[in-house]
Amino acid sequence: MKIFIDSDNIEEIKKYLSWGVCDGVTTNPTTFFRSGVSGAEGIKNRVLEISKLIGSQPLSVEVTSEIPEEIIKQAKEYSGWANNIVIKIPVTDSKGNSLLGVVKKLVQEGVVVNVTLIMNFNQAILAAKSISSGLEKLNDKKAHFISIFAGRITEEQGVERAFQVIKEARLWLDFHKFNNVEIIIASIRNPENIEYFSKTGGHVMTIPPEAISKSLLAARTKEGVAKFMEDAKKSI
Ligand code: E4P
Repeated sequence: MKIFIDSDNIEEIKKYLSWGVCDGVTTNPTTFFRSGVSGAEGIKNRVLEISKLIGSQPLSVEVTSEIPEEIIKQAKEYSGWANNIVIKIPVTDSKGNSLLGVVKKLVQEGVVVNVTLIMNFNQAILAAKSISSGLEKLNDKKAHFISIFAGRITEEQGVERAFQVIKEARLWLDFHKFNNVEIIIASIRNPENIEYFSKTGGHVMTIPPEAISKSLLAARTKEGVAKFMEDAKKSI
């Protein structure tokens, strides 16, 4: 399973790259807002900075419009910023209208997409179909993504339901040989989520920095190191 860092914080991304646990980065309008990155130029500069830092690893950038023509315009602009940009497009707009027509069109034009805000199995398979249909006539069959929001599904329908949606979507993709679509397990809240949802078979998990750092903390590890250091001093 690949790990993406769910953050636009440069220092955090550098840290996890240096640990060898960063295979890509995901951002969204909320992450930029939280870290005080604003304005078109500010966001572009931060995206370029992250893109350079992670080299060929994928960097997801979300569109900020719900209007199909504007989404297409933004997607083309953003994907032109660097070779590793992946365009995040919600599966529907805020009224529930499908954005899959936009997804197919962009994929056909060579834009790599991440269909986001997926909350159920049917949205997942429809998004995968849309991507796959866009790829039909292309020779370049890079991986595209669908982001299933484990944390948000859990908040509404429980953790088992979230697990089942991701696991069954992965089985379905494999059974029907959707080899160019990868599931990103998104909306991770804590270390327990990391352990639990790692067993779903999702190809990627995008994790907020705090949940990664907390994952390494174990009182008995700290205590064990302290004891070994103490005994090492005695035996020198
Ligand atoms: C990742 O790509 C998503 O944008 C992210 O995991 C969102 O999760 P949340 O807003 O539910 O925390």
